Amino acid sequence: MDYVENKLSLGEQREAALARTAQHVLTAWKEFDAARDHESLPSEALHQFLTTPLPRDGSDVLDVIDRAVAVLDSSLAQSRPRYFAFIGSAGLEVGALADLLAHSYDTNLAVDARAATELEWQAVSWLAQFIGFPAQTGTFTSGGTISNITALASAREAAIPGVREHGLDGRRPTLYCSVEAHYSITRAAEVLGIGSANVRAVAIDAQRRMRADALREQLRRDLTDRYTPVAIVATTGTTLTGAIDPIGQLADVAEEFGVWLHVDGAYGVPAAAVASRAQLFDGLDRAHSVTVDCHKWMFVPKACSAVLVRDGASLAKAFAHEEAYMPHAGGHYNAVDITLEYSRPFRALKLWMLFSTHGADAVREAIERNCLQAQMLFDWVQQRPLFETLRSRPQLSIVPFRAVVEGCPNINDHNDALCSAIQRDGRIYLSPATIDGGVWLRPCFTNFRTTSDDVAALLDVAEELGGVCRILHQ
Ligand SMILES: Cc1ncc(COP(=O)(O)O)c(C=O)c1O
Repeated sequence: MDYVENKLSLGEQREAALARTAQHVLTAWKEFDAARDHESLPSEALHQFLTTPLPRDGSDVLDVIDRAVAVLDSSLAQSRPRYFAFIGSAGLEVGALADLLAHSYDTNLAVDARAATELEWQAVSWLAQFIGFPAQTGTFTSGGTISNITALASAREAAIPGVREHGLDGRRPTLYCSVEAHYSITRAAEVLGIGSANVRAVAIDAQRRMRADALREQLRRDLTDRYTPVAIVATTGTTLTGAIDPIGQLADVAEEFGVWLHVDGAYGVPAAAVASRAQLFDGLDRAHSVTVDCHKWMFVPKACSAVLVRDGASLAKAFAHEEAYMPHAGGHYNAVDITLEYSRPFRALKLWMLFSTHGADAVREAIERNCLQAQMLFDWVQQRPLFETLRSRPQLSIVPFRAVVEGCPNINDHNDALCSAIQRDGRIYLSPATIDGGVWLRPCFTNFRTTSDDVAALLDVAEELGGVCRILHQ
């Protein structure tokens, strides 16, 4: 076989390199099926290796692949069933295969890429059908932060037509979200010239959901003071506790005041597709735009988020443009006309391969299982005298709980130390969160591999390490 004389081709080592990679991937997938006893930490040799200077000459690709795997094996992997920190993704197997395929062809979804562009539209449509949102169009982005900025740029253009050309022109825009909305909403306000000081953090109720009455009052005050409301952002669910803002009530307010309603469902909106949770999302179809992070609770690897809009023209009003080097083929908008980005990887493929391979019902079942695990943990924690939970049951799959050791001088320091001890211990991994000034352990279930045994292990490890206040403070 003739290979192109090219030092950047793997040439005759192609098959061996693919086989070695496939072998490592298979080992990892099998290992992810069950929890391992301890995380492996980076060795001293690995630390040293990761400070070596730029190599002038290359090395054998098989050695390089082995080294890359050594790095990955000594890193936190969200694919593992006992990774409960933040809001993890889960490294779905067909998602990883999709990435390998997409990156090999390196299709650019900036302008019309023929079949890949059609597949992206189909994936947008499948996602909209899955969550029950009547999207006319949408686009894939690198994450919830960018999806939120993209949607809110459209909202800004709708509230202040021509703003992208003329700037704010003396207007004083405002944005409305719950006090527990994700920071990306503040970031959007900053980059869109709204200003973080003009983000109205609306009060929440006992279940930590945005209060529609407080929102209405704030809007009335702001309109009297001649502010220009750009959007109301409903979070479903919040990063802190998984609370779902009452979309229907917020849609009533949005319609009353003629304001854009954006749903930040980066984490939680896939649960709208699940029978036991669907009613919590009533009113979703009345939103103008929705953010969904497929790299959170749709299980595919990062980075894969989507922004969906009810009015097909709204994204284009904010982003469409003419450039001599950007042809408009086929009479439709290019992706660069409806997104912030230019060069765009083929993110849609992994979601498409998820639905094509496993079907929507399997995704629903996995989300439902995570919701049940949250309810289970909430009930189990109630039965252990050492711990307490928040008063209200989890709405989605986040279950804050904390140790309350009798006589402990500082319950927050204790829980902080407990969380660090759990991370050092390595049997499970979770992160802390501050809720109403208190430090809580905050496990989140978004992994299709997690079993009820893993949930039980979480509580057992926390109890074993959390019972002895004295030890944690040494
Ligand atoms: C509700 C919510 N919105 C937005 C984001 C930002 O998403 P990303 O990290 O994909 O940018 C997060 C991240 O956790 C989130 O929980």
